[in-house]
Amino acid sequence: MPIELRSDTFSQPTPAMREAIASAVCGDDMVGEDPTVNRLEAMVAEMLGKEAAVFACSGTQSNQMGVWVNCQRGDELLIESTGHIANYESGGPAILSGVSVRRISGDFGRLDVEQLEGQIRGGNQHFAPTTLLCLENSTNLGGGRTYPLDQLQRVCDWAHERGLKTHLDGARIFNACVARSIAPRDVANCFDTVSICFSKGLGCPMGSILVGSANDMARARRARKVFGGALRQTGIVAAAAIHALEQHIDRLADDHANARRFAEAISQLPHIHVDVAGVETNLAFFEIDPVWGTAAQLSQQLKERGVHINPAGGEQRLRACTHLDVTRDQIDQAVAVLREIVTQGAAAHQTSSAGTYG
Ligand SMILES: Cc1ncc(COP(=O)(O)O)c(C=O)c1O
Repeated sequence: MPIELRSDTFSQPTPAMREAIASAVCGDDMVGEDPTVNRLEAMVAEMLGKEAAVFACSGTQSNQMGVWVNCQRGDELLIESTGHIANYESGGPAILSGVSVRRISGDFGRLDVEQLEGQIRGGNQHFAPTTLLCLENSTNLGGGRTYPLDQLQRVCDWAHERGLKTHLDGARIFNACVARSIAPRDVANCFDTVSICFSKGLGCPMGSILVGSANDMARARRARKVFGGALRQTGIVAAAAIHALEQHIDRLADDHANARRFAEAISQLPHIHVDVAGVETNLAFFEIDPVWGTAAQLSQQLKERGVHINPAGGEQRLRACTHLDVTRDQIDQAVAVLREIVTQGAAAHQTSSAGTYG
């Protein structure tokens, strides 16, 4: 079996989760009669201190439901330049909600008030009115970083005072909360809508959810139907999500410790650059010296030796992602493989340099 560090989306349902799926009581969710989905939606709304929740097929879908709910056609949203909604949702805001996206450079995927000051537009026919601010916590391409609670409060207050709505892409909100020992409802309290993924660190085969006010969630239900995401006996996947919320949140700390262990070990290797202190959650980004080769080449060499790590967001950058199917021993094995490759690569490079200049 390869050591799977490409993404937490590769995790397999555990035997206990499969049992929960097998014994799920189901109904027709499109007419609101799946008791397991209803239980999940009530559970997450309560957990996050919101009036209501709507189950969705994927994180992309729940984010796009959030955009639909918070905007009118022709509006503009603001987001940090590495944000998933801006970069990896296939232009969804424009296609589905008629909303344009404006990217603002931040700090490791995070935004603060000084970066946002002066960015709200409207009141002039030249501009699409800015009506929504989207944040991501933890950040993905931003580097697995998390927001301090006071920064979230400050930024969301700033947005609300100026009439904007706020949406959190909380695909990995529980990683962020475990890393900072913050209650998820304190984070959610800052936002109008929050999306959560069950199929990442929580280890479910699929599923996501959007939370917010009862009014907004009624609109989100309509959006989900429009997007083709209203399902029938969804209880089989909602059961997995309930199991994950009960069993898989606290253990995220192990994934974070594994990511940090990986980063610390590879920081000792030649040609590798990693900001160990920046590894806050389950994502460890690192760079390979161009003199060694590219991220794609390294990824291929690792793959040939049974370690799956993908290039991520740049020619030289890779991302290792830990999750519940990655053990501490596997982390040590992955480091050993990486050590072997970069050390041999360095030797090969020195030989060829000697040839060139000798
Ligand atoms: C930050 C973030 N938001 C949203 C998503 C979308 O989730 P999905 O792949 O379930 O559509 C991802 C997926 O990796 C993500 O990392």
